[in-house]
Amino acid sequence: MNADILREKFLGFFEARKHKIVESDSLVPKDDPTVLFTPAGMNQFKKEFMGFDSGFRRAATAQRCLRTDDLDKVGKTSAHHTFFEMLGNFSFGDYFKEEAIAWAWEFLTQELKIGREKLWVSVYQEDDEAYNIWKDKIGIPEKKIVRLGDKDNFWPAEAKTKGPNGPCGPCSEIFYDFGPGVGCGEKICDPSCSCGRFVEIWNLVFTQFNRKEDGSLEPLPNKNIDTGMGLERLAAVMQGKQNNFETELFQPIIKEIKLGCQDINGDGAGIASDTSRPRNDGNNGMFYAIADHLRAVVFSIYDGITPSNEGRGYIVRKIIRKSALHLRSLGINKPFLNTLVGQLVQIMHEPYPDLKDRQEDIAQVILMKKKTLLIF
Ligand code: GLY
Repeated sequence: MNADILREKFLGFFEARKHKIVESDSLVPKDDPTVLFTPAGMNQFKKEFMGFDSGFRRAATAQRCLRTDDLDKVGKTSAHHTFFEMLGNFSFGDYFKEEAIAWAWEFLTQELKIGREKLWVSVYQEDDEAYNIWKDKIGIPEKKIVRLGDKDNFWPAEAKTKGPNGPCGPCSEIFYDFGPGVGCGEKICDPSCSCGRFVEIWNLVFTQFNRKEDGSLEPLPNKNIDTGMGLERLAAVMQGKQNNFETELFQPIIKEIKLGCQDINGDGAGIASDTSRPRNDGNNGMFYAIADHLRAVVFSIYDGITPSNEGRGYIVRKIIRKSALHLRSLGINKPFLNTLVGQLVQIMHEPYPDLKDRQEDIAQVILMKKKTLLIF
């Protein structure tokens, strides 16, 4: 099942459950000084979480997101990205844990028909309510419900001690088990292990606190739901791939880069398909990183960010520079990233039909910046 279908199915599922389908917000957050780029679906709804009435109490989105914390990991693991799409359903003082958990389970196991035996869950260490819903209402065996702490099962991670201020709460995550053949191979392995056997696909946040300036957690006027599921990870699971970069969201771009290498090196740099998790060796990691960075750069420019020496523009410039360095390592020393924009437009034209009209302008902005980077 491809990503366009998954996105549509997700939004349709929640629309049928009376959620308002809200457009993805820009990568440039409108009213959120706590972040430089939109990192999650919930950011455009912070005021609703704080109690503001926008006229709807349920929403669902496919939010374009950009996170730079993992920039150096991109391409080295199978599921880290800078740019990604987050599927999310939200409740502003309407439904809470029981419905959020039941619908997430129904979507995965009935709508997408993922085998229940493949799924594990985690809950916040003190959250008996969520634990019992998974155990008693959904019927998950206790050995497949893991209790984790502030780093893993509070969102934002470690917000209690480190911030940021604003809406936050305990969360419950759903993991897909790629099986004992993937990862550490230890007999005892569960979602708390970072070996890559278990990949988190959906995070259900029970947003019930406002973290204040003094670090205290004040109960919000309402109990809310904020969920986030990475479309790229879901696509990989649904396509039987152990690596997000092996899905149709990235492969046409990667093929184009390989062709570019072939033209220059004559042999396509002898790249074999690598589906190992979580490590990706050698050149494949560079192809993955370039494909990732292309998406981040194109959608940043789409949202009006110009590569520059400060703020968001600096981050975009840094990502272009990283791509240029990878391309150079692959033997491509001429401006090339700009030539890949058309492939990305092909992949993303369904959710972003206007991207086509912007294609030439975006490619031109990248070309100008890359020329500058190559000179200096
Ligand atoms: N807001 C939920 C998440 O980003 O995982």
